[in-house]
Amino acid sequence: MSTQGSSGELRVGMVGYAFMGAAHSQAWRTVNRVFDLPVRATMVAVCGRDGAKVADAASRLGWAEAVTDWRELIARDDIDVIDVCTPGDSHAEIAIAALEAGKHVLCEKPLANTVEEARAMVAAAAKARALGVRSACGFNYRRVPAVSLMRNLIADGRLGAIRHVRAVYLQDWITDPNFPLVWRLQKDKAGSGALGDIGAHIIDLTQFVTGQQITGVTGITETFIKERPLPEASSGLSASAGATTGEVTVDDAAVFVARLSGGGLATYEATRFATGRKNGLKVEINGELGSLVFDLERLNELEYYDATKPAAEQGFSRILVTEGEHPYLSAWWPPGHIIGYEHSFTHEMRDFIEAVATGQDPTPSFEDALQVQLVLDAVEKSDASWVSVLA
Ligand SMILES: NC(=O)c1ccc[n+]([C@@H]2O[C@H](COP(=O)([O-])OP(=O)(O)OC[C@H]3O[C@@H](n4cnc5c(N)ncnc54)[C@H](O)[C@@H]3O)[C@@H](O)[C@H]2O)c1
Repeated sequence: MSTQGSSGELRVGMVGYAFMGAAHSQAWRTVNRVFDLPVRATMVAVCGRDGAKVADAASRLGWAEAVTDWRELIARDDIDVIDVCTPGDSHAEIAIAALEAGKHVLCEKPLANTVEEARAMVAAAAKARALGVRSACGFNYRRVPAVSLMRNLIADGRLGAIRHVRAVYLQDWITDPNFPLVWRLQKDKAGSGALGDIGAHIIDLTQFVTGQQITGVTGITETFIKERPLPEASSGLSASAGATTGEVTVDDAAVFVARLSGGGLATYEATRFATGRKNGLKVEINGELGSLVFDLERLNELEYYDATKPAAEQGFSRILVTEGEHPYLSAWWPPGHIIGYEHSFTHEMRDFIEAVATGQDPTPSFEDALQVQLVLDAVEKSDASWVSVLA
């Protein structure tokens, strides 16, 4: 079993090298240059199925070697961490095999394609944890400093009892009916559509900032475009359409309401059909003592309404989250010098490395990610309770 390399290194092997592979590589390359950590991450090898493409990716993204079968990474003695950046259909197989081989695992979200797979991953993680082997799921938005600050303010009691959570994650990349049937639109590859891809993020984010769990849901999902051209070639979110078509087997959009463990009510919307919204993640929390609002398009800011102030001074204020005392920011730039999307991944690796090096469990754990999976599953099942309005 490996916990870390002999010379204070944490030697990483990554599976998948496209969108998340690039984001994670950027973070592994950067993390030790920015943060003072007990061990140094080394980028040992990246895995992809096409030899020429993965070799190109390795040199572009900064990996020392390229391999074409993830089992090779797991079999190696010079790798301590397996970073899973593949679509959901391979998460369970890769993560469980890696944990059983004594490798720490960082797995992209959503944890799995089904609750059953997620439960098997949790069981493997629990067994591995007993041997000092760690695991975490990559819900990176937790690591945006303004989101961490939101959690800290709520944990400090600044909002009092939480009454409402209002969360949306809006995209528009498949509004064109001729956009091809990429893996994200196939249930066997992706598990679900907008619900699991982007809905999972706002489920995790809102449970994280409130410190509460979703205890019940009812919702609806819709697939607006039921047939699409099969892709000729695809990479990440872009693809070209072929001549034949296939059935879309996931939701295009999901809308649901939820009850929180603290007694509040929550609403969620996840869609790939919000024309004009590219990656619009927005969360508003209303408590008895105030409100907080986070908008990913303005990720260096947090809006705060303090209802305990004198009425004449009340109003939403904008906190510019760039101070050294804000989460993660002392390692970056002077106040006012803003950061971006990719920093959330660098912070994810920072927290993962520190936890592994100090023998702690990184977060979110596979158990936390299973809770998200249970919510996704409940939303899909809740369609049965839909009641038609009859004139
Ligand atoms: N944290 C986030 O914000 C975020 C954003 C996008 C995607 N994701 C998640 O990251 C994961 C990957 O998504 P993506 O956008 O990077 O997808 P992508 O299509 O851009 O890349 C997937 C990669 O996996 C490789 N791959 C697929 N099956 C493989 C296998 N069996 N063995 C080796 N390589 C394999 C592909 O060749 C490709 O390199 C998904 O779970 C997705 O939900 C997370």
